[in-house]
Amino acid sequence: MSRSDKANIRAQIEALRADIHAHDHRYYVLDDPVISDLAYDDLMRELQALEAAHPEYDSPDSPSRRVGGRPAAGFAPQTHRRPMLSLANAFSREEFMEFNRRVCERLAQAQVVYVAETKLDGLAINLTYESGVLVSAATRGDGEVGEDVTANIRTIGSVPLTLRQAPALLEVRGEVYLPHRGFEALNAQQLAQGGKPFANPRNAAAGSLRQLDPAVTRARPLTVYCYGVGACEGADVPPTHFELLNWLRELGCRVSPETARVDGVEAAIAYYAAMEARRPTLGYDIDGVVFKVDRLDWQAELGQVSRSPRWAVAFKFRPEERETRVLSIDVQVGRTGALTPVARLEPVVVGGVTVTNATLHNAEEIARKDVRVGDTVLVRRAGDVIPEVVSVVPAKRPSGTVPFVMPSTVPDQALQQQVQALIHFASRRAMDIEGLGDRLAEQLVREGLVSTPADLYGLSVEQLTALERLGEKSAENLAQAIDRSRRSTLPRVLFAVGISEVGETTARQLAQHFGTLDAIATATTEMLEQVPDIGPVVAGHIARFFADPEHLDLLQRLQVLGVTWPEIATAEKADAPLVGWTVVLTGALDSMNRDEAGDRLLALGAKVSGSVSKKTTLVVAGSDAGSKARKALELGIPLTDETGLLRLLEDPRGVAPELVPP
Ligand code: IVH
Repeated sequence: MSRSDKANIRAQIEALRADIHAHDHRYYVLDDPVISDLAYDDLMRELQALEAAHPEYDSPDSPSRRVGGRPAAGFAPQTHRRPMLSLANAFSREEFMEFNRRVCERLAQAQVVYVAETKLDGLAINLTYESGVLVSAATRGDGEVGEDVTANIRTIGSVPLTLRQAPALLEVRGEVYLPHRGFEALNAQQLAQGGKPFANPRNAAAGSLRQLDPAVTRARPLTVYCYGVGACEGADVPPTHFELLNWLRELGCRVSPETARVDGVEAAIAYYAAMEARRPTLGYDIDGVVFKVDRLDWQAELGQVSRSPRWAVAFKFRPEERETRVLSIDVQVGRTGALTPVARLEPVVVGGVTVTNATLHNAEEIARKDVRVGDTVLVRRAGDVIPEVVSVVPAKRPSGTVPFVMPSTVPDQALQQQVQALIHFASRRAMDIEGLGDRLAEQLVREGLVSTPADLYGLSVEQLTALERLGEKSAENLAQAIDRSRRSTLPRVLFAVGISEVGETTARQLAQHFGTLDAIATATTEMLEQVPDIGPVVAGHIARFFADPEHLDLLQRLQVLGVTWPEIATAEKADAPLVGWTVVLTGALDSMNRDEAGDRLLALGAKVSGSVSKKTTLVVAGSDAGSKARKALELGIPLTDETGLLRLLEDPRGVAPELVPP
């Protein structure tokens, strides 16, 4: 074939691809096709024939790739260039007004313009475009690392394979979801094929995206709405979120038409009310309205707290409520010893999940609601929280019911509390003692081997092996897991010991603010209230916890038995060895997970960041490290591997960043 023939064929292929892209955009994004399905199929077949005859012109962004797609080999982890944040929630008008008040206060503005968007109930996705070509797509995962679902995402017609302008790099964020019609069709098909129907469109969308065979994903009518960007290089991002969304539209992305600018809190609430009324007619699930501060410079000024931006909030709709019957009321003991009444219910599906238990909170709540065994009650499930009984349906109360009397103690109460405290202590996000589950915790307490968590560290392998149902190998593994957990971090220990209302985030903030356990234990409530997000109630819990000699004894025994945690370098401790370092961790590590590595670096005074920039001191690349390692090389930033990291942690004063061995 002559050179000009070749050039000709290539031009033909490119023209067809451009044509098909344009039709895809009209069809999927604008909802306004200009050719028939048949004519479209002809174009696609012509392209496929040419591509088959000339594989040398193969290209990952060809629209034909939507059709075939190669099966993904499992889902490889993929690190987002910028973390994918989550949203703080507001569950009432008051909470939303409070959000607005804080925003206005921090910005010193009387009123702020927000962009209102529907809160889509699907899965967050990160689409990476390099020079305008879709090169990868990943689920949100833990916000830092998601799963590579590129092959499946390519089958979704509304995801552009190429953008209409081509910034060097652009991460587009959006939600993949399944509209109601598609959901119903899919479930009808599942049933017809003898399969199990999906509980709700969200589950169906998740299940469809995580198919190993993209052909299966392709047969599911998934679609996407884009609502933000992550990393962007080689283009100027517009100054407001509203314009950013318009820019995404220009690039060819599908953006919800429900998006609107609202000026001030009253307009925001009016949008919310109107959207709640329209919710049943939208044709897809939404569970609230997201409000985002429009000006991007203000977003930057507001920043974020833990994993959520301060400039956005999800104002949730009232959760779904369902009727069911109370079969019995049990009383459970919590890890702090509090008694919680729990209603056992006739199973009922609420918000897509089958509920059989619901909390009744405490004696006062039960009395106020007058919930009795045999009652028909309204049950509510909001997000991932424990379902609760909202109220009794008085008209449906059978005769002969009696008011529930809350016992002041329950049989085995002390023991039950010890078990709960131990389960919490050993849990993954606390001391992370693998293999110590509910059953074993109960066994250890019942057999008198453990009464406080510190006792764990005094157990011998022989004692563990002697436990019924625990084989020698498991006993050894458990002993090792207990031993490993000795090297801990202050935030983990604070969380593990079970201070009322001190969750992981609060524990981390306490640790960062005070630096040492002693400083926290001796802090006054006024000092505790200086910590972000700690108010008088939680400060009171913390102060009371450390005023209790039993707790002090527990902490002391932990240390005597070899549990250690490094001090955290607080702002005042400028002499920590890695103060001034900003370290980026990327890829997988063998000897520890990234959280742990991050905690240890933090303890040495370093900052740990999710993205590589000129300010980065050192990039640690584990296995499968991708773009961040590349970027470090591009920017000439010192790069090391896990061995280098371990050496640095061992001897943090011994090396300059450039000399941390690769
Ligand atoms: S923005 C800056 N906008 O909600 C915060 N998220 O809790 C990043 N979601 O993971 C998210 N609709 O799956 C944003 N219009 C919307 C959304 C939305 C649904 C989901 C998304 C995200 C989660 C955050």
